[in-house]
Amino acid sequence: MQVDGAQPWVSGEALRRLMSQLEAAQGRLWDPKEDEGKKGWLTWPEEDHGGLWQEVEATATEIRSRADVAVVVGIGGSYLGARAVTAMLRPGSEISGSRGFPVVFAGYQLSEGELLRLMDDLDDREPALVVVSKSGSTLEPGAAFHLLRTNLERRYGHQARERIYVVTDPERGALREYAVEKGYRRLPIPPDIGGRYSVLTPVGMLPAAVAGIDIRRVLTGARRGWEDCRRLDLWGNPAILYAAARHLLYLQGWMVEALVTYEPRMADFSRWWQQLFGESQGKDGRGLFPAFLHYTTDLHSMGQFVQQGRRLLFETVLDVDGASAPQPAAGEPPDPRVVIPDDVDAASAYLAGKRLDDLQEAAMAAVMEAHREGGVPQLWIEAKGPGEELVGELVFFFEAACALGGYLLGVDPYDQPGVEAYKRKLKARLLSGPVAGV
Ligand code: PA5
Repeated sequence: MQVDGAQPWVSGEALRRLMSQLEAAQGRLWDPKEDEGKKGWLTWPEEDHGGLWQEVEATATEIRSRADVAVVVGIGGSYLGARAVTAMLRPGSEISGSRGFPVVFAGYQLSEGELLRLMDDLDDREPALVVVSKSGSTLEPGAAFHLLRTNLERRYGHQARERIYVVTDPERGALREYAVEKGYRRLPIPPDIGGRYSVLTPVGMLPAAVAGIDIRRVLTGARRGWEDCRRLDLWGNPAILYAAARHLLYLQGWMVEALVTYEPRMADFSRWWQQLFGESQGKDGRGLFPAFLHYTTDLHSMGQFVQQGRRLLFETVLDVDGASAPQPAAGEPPDPRVVIPDDVDAASAYLAGKRLDDLQEAAMAAVMEAHREGGVPQLWIEAKGPGEELVGELVFFFEAACALGGYLLGVDPYDQPGVEAYKRKLKARLLSGPVAGV
């Protein structure tokens, strides 16, 4: 993985001046006594988890044999990571898709229309539910779970319980108790790993395994990320470099960091990234607002603002791979279906004979040049390699960079008091009787 600074905004000299703060943040991150009980994610890739992965794989196999679609119910950190991994590695595995075992998501909003549409779709399928909630008491997934469960019980009676799987805290929580009482199969969310840092645990890995993803390779990639991010070496540790560069831009007054991706299959990864940084760093009046832009689509909606609008935004380009489709062997021609024919109209003559990937590469270079001229700092994260390993490596890299960035900002990267405030107010309203209009 390669992180390139946004020169001239981020100079080598400015990074070196930050060195003692970076050393302190890295020391704090890797000191087991600091933030004890909240950093299980940090050592997770190097630890032996006994038979956990066999259990996850066996559960996934069971789900695939009993059902023909898995509905993953969760929100925030209990949903975004699973969605990011499956969308990145199995694009098109939604319910009507033909690629791999379908995995769909529910419980991440409160729309009646959406839930009814999903239930209609499930009517002529054989669904299984995978309910993910660490606290076991979050409103949105709780509501969706009980509605979907009731639907399953109407169809399958007592046997519905063989279609319900619960991922939750192994020691506490209302969902855990309910699952025990009902006899649902359970998998653990380690108590010392918070929602948005939990994608490499059964939270993300069970849905991924159900979708047919080789989770061992994802974990191998995470282990590689862990090795890279452990070094105390500004230039050799991508997490330090990224955390440092975005912190310098923050100190210069930039307010928004937009994660830019060029591949539609990365859209959900951007949402996971957004939650990771938004919830971990946006507190005490501090933090960059994490946004995302999907190019080239958004160049035709947001490109104008980025190029010439108010100067508040810098870009972090996540270049996962130049090639979005399998590459032809050396000397072999590309798939003719993605090569633009010669008989195009006169205005499009410059496209004739080019591949879509060629256009994508040219677009990336053109955007880099244009936005730099427009005064937009651009950080580049270039990450190559086999998809499964790459996603594990990226997840760990961003988690490490996020925690480091929290320490640089002087905030606690593991709590989310703002989210709790909304949860409390919503519950209070519902407990106080009939719901009043807003
Ligand atoms: O990252 C977090 O801690 C949050 O986004 C939670 O994951 C989210 O609120 C869902 O919580 P729970 O897993 O307890 O249902």
